[in-house]
Amino acid sequence: MSYTKTPNAFYKPLAIGAPVPFQSLPVTLERMIHFVPPHIEKIRSKIPDMVKQVDVILGNLEDAIPADAKDAARSGFIELADKNEFGGTGLWTRVNCLNSPWFLDDVTQIVSKVGNKLDVIMLPKVEGPWDIHYLDQLLAQLEAKHNVNTPILIHAILETAQGVNNIQEIAGASPRMHGMSLGPADLAASRGMKTTRVGGGHPFYGVLEDPTETGLRTLFQQDLWHYTVAKMVDACMGHGIKAFYGPFGDFSDSDACRAQFRNAFLQGCLGTWTLHPSQIKIAKDVFSPEPGEVLFAKKILEAMPDGTGAVMIDGKMQDDATWKQAKVIVDLAKLVAEKDPDLATSYEF
Ligand code: GLV
Ligand code: MG
Repeated sequence: MSYTKTPNAFYKPLAIGAPVPFQSLPVTLERMIHFVPPHIEKIRSKIPDMVKQVDVILGNLEDAIPADAKDAARSGFIELADKNEFGGTGLWTRVNCLNSPWFLDDVTQIVSKVGNKLDVIMLPKVEGPWDIHYLDQLLAQLEAKHNVNTPILIHAILETAQGVNNIQEIAGASPRMHGMSLGPADLAASRGMKTTRVGGGHPFYGVLEDPTETGLRTLFQQDLWHYTVAKMVDACMGHGIKAFYGPFGDFSDSDACRAQFRNAFLQGCLGTWTLHPSQIKIAKDVFSPEPGEVLFAKKILEAMPDGTGAVMIDGKMQDDATWKQAKVIVDLAKLVAEKDPDLATSYEF
């Protein structure tokens, strides 16, 4: 007995009058999802400036917002969504989790008041496809009721052990799925990891060098998140959705932040969260392909116009598979170039 929908039912709106689901995701540049606490007036006043600096602005309603500020954060988000024009910058919110006392009001009030401005709802603590199905149905009903024209997408945070176990089913739960982010803090707690950090490495997680003649042995630190990021990238790319790194909590260590972001980028992630203004530039640098790489990738595409065969470039063998890798980089570079004239010049477009 299979409980999977037939393909034609999968793409039907879940409520009469709701917009038709996307068959493939809109192509958008989302190098950084910049988190803001919407209950703070001073932060709301900075939104027009922020819109010019980041690819996505996210109004955070969940963790880090105190319980007594939840209502103010929700109404602050509605106000900032209503008052500002976002142009090509994405507008997202992270709602409270499904079993919290705030989730229902978060979704119903936000969609009813600013549903036509909202691109994506980030859903925390997703455990399985049932969580996505519930929000999917609710959103369809609200979209129909409030005349929302474009489907609001769902982005899941991968931050429970159960969520990791069900990752394939979550990724494929609905055409509304935009992607996933790693939530290393909640995931560490859920898994019983012995850390007290928000993302990043740990000095004791490593491989000890074999015994040496001098007796000195180096511990090579390893990436605690390698397994989960790799698993997330495969699940997302296999379903045509996007993978993202999440938060990096040590704002004083920009080098470690850059290294963590870069591992995620090289493994296939398309962006990251930025929690502090200082992380915006790091994310922009890391998630925009490096100009030298882009120029080399362009050479590969030019040398193999139909994408087949084998050629040598600068002593390195290229074939159909390197052509595909080059295309990933050049396609991303084109998207970045549309937004960033300086990088367009370095990429020689
Ligand atoms: C993010 O929400 C995390 O738990 O790391
Ligand atoms: Mg979390």
